[in-house]
Amino acid sequence: METSFHVNPVWIDLAYLLAACLFILGIMGLAHPRTAVRGNLLGALGMLIAAVVTLLARGLDFGVIVAGVLVGSLAGALLAYKIRMTAMPQMVALLNGFGGGASTLVAGAALAQTASPDLQSSVATAATGLVGAVTFWGSLVAFAKLQEFLVSGRQVLFGGQKALNALLGLASLLCCAWVVAEPTSAAAYCSLVAVASVLGVLLVIPIGGADMPVVISLLNSYSGIAGATSGFVLSNTVLIIAGALVGASGIILSRIMCKAMNRSLTNVLFGVLGPASGAASEDEVYAGKVKATSPEEVAMLLSGARRVVIVPGYGMAVAQAQHAVRSLANLIESKGAEVEFAIHPVAGRMPGHMNVLLAEADVPYDKLKEMDVINPSFPQTDVVLVIGANDVVNPLARTDPACPIAGMPILDVDKARTVVVIKRSLGPGFAGIPNPLFAADNALMLFQDGRKAIQDLIAAVKES
Ligand code: TAP
Repeated sequence: METSFHVNPVWIDLAYLLAACLFILGIMGLAHPRTAVRGNLLGALGMLIAAVVTLLARGLDFGVIVAGVLVGSLAGALLAYKIRMTAMPQMVALLNGFGGGASTLVAGAALAQTASPDLQSSVATAATGLVGAVTFWGSLVAFAKLQEFLVSGRQVLFGGQKALNALLGLASLLCCAWVVAEPTSAAAYCSLVAVASVLGVLLVIPIGGADMPVVISLLNSYSGIAGATSGFVLSNTVLIIAGALVGASGIILSRIMCKAMNRSLTNVLFGVLGPASGAASEDEVYAGKVKATSPEEVAMLLSGARRVVIVPGYGMAVAQAQHAVRSLANLIESKGAEVEFAIHPVAGRMPGHMNVLLAEADVPYDKLKEMDVINPSFPQTDVVLVIGANDVVNPLARTDPACPIAGMPILDVDKARTVVVIKRSLGPGFAGIPNPLFAADNALMLFQDGRKAIQDLIAAVKES
């Protein structure tokens, strides 16, 4: 069923231009929650146009393509349906990896079909093999680490690691040169992919803990770069544009996350980060200083409050407490207090995690305040309700230069009059360190599951 329509190339290019414009408008829309849904639809429309035009314009075997689309759609829909919101970073890691792997295969297949590739396509093939294989294997390791499947989620370090990585980097560049010199050699391409695959694994295993989101975003960028270079192999303009957009936005997001954690990208990728040996133990931080509270006591505090700030974190996502939180905020407001939400850029487990959950619960966007905007207002805040957040409110980031989150800007909730922390135990957050906030004089701990705690609090406020 091989079909090719004879379309004027000018129309194809115009359709690709339209698709590219839709991608750009889509990304612009994604920059704000209010326009994000429309942005997503515009991007998807662009992709539909690009895919349909490419399928119609090239002589392709539609039987195989339809079968591939069916199998892929079924697998994608099942994965997306089953995945928990809190496991999204793993899912994104897998999708990045598949993008890199697909580009590597496409470049290899194009190489096998071309009798005498020109310099542009042989350089592009080498670049795709290198970046695609690093992306594929790096992403699989990132998935395994986040899922704690076969590999530890923490850093895996061994002696001579950096030297070995440098050697592998050099070897992969030599293999690239071999591919460019002998573009039709399958041995050259396979060697390049093999060396780059080992490099991909070794580049990601020393990274762990709170740095994983940056790595995922960087691998997302790599998958875009591999897509763009494979566009050069296939001489497909829209693939080059889409890949470049993904590559650029991934890098920008990585930089934003590094800034939010006060780290440089080089430090994330090559720095060694881990719990400091001299760090205080949980006993030293908490013993005899933690004050537990009850929903009734918190309700009394709230009834006298004029300004309340809610700080959501990963635990709110786990407890699926966002709807209850919205109801509580409405209730407090109906009693005359001002309520705002403080959003830390890396709260939760993916960029925008808290915004997405609170938008789902219909919390108005103008109530969500970014860290820099809300931080100066904490000293004038009567009650802060911290719901399942830990690292993003940990004052150790300010005071202990040796801790894993040292220098990360945090929400200054400890400066409020009273802080109520809702979580199930004194257990640590993602960075695995104790939090002196829980033992602070102005802090009260409400030890409960996030959703149950908020529901009890709503009942107590209604009764008070
Ligand atoms: P975390 O520091 O990870 O703390 C979450 C807290 O939620 C835990 O201490 C846990 O305490 C509590 N919790 C878990 N389940 C709960 C439930 N059902 N009800 C109530 N509480 C519950 O979260 P955070 O403050 O949002 O900080 C995010 C961390 O993740 C940062 O270190 C960040 O770098 C990292 N990270 C961020 C991203 C992005 S891009 N957002 C991606 C990956 C990693 P209990 O067990 O005691 O309940």
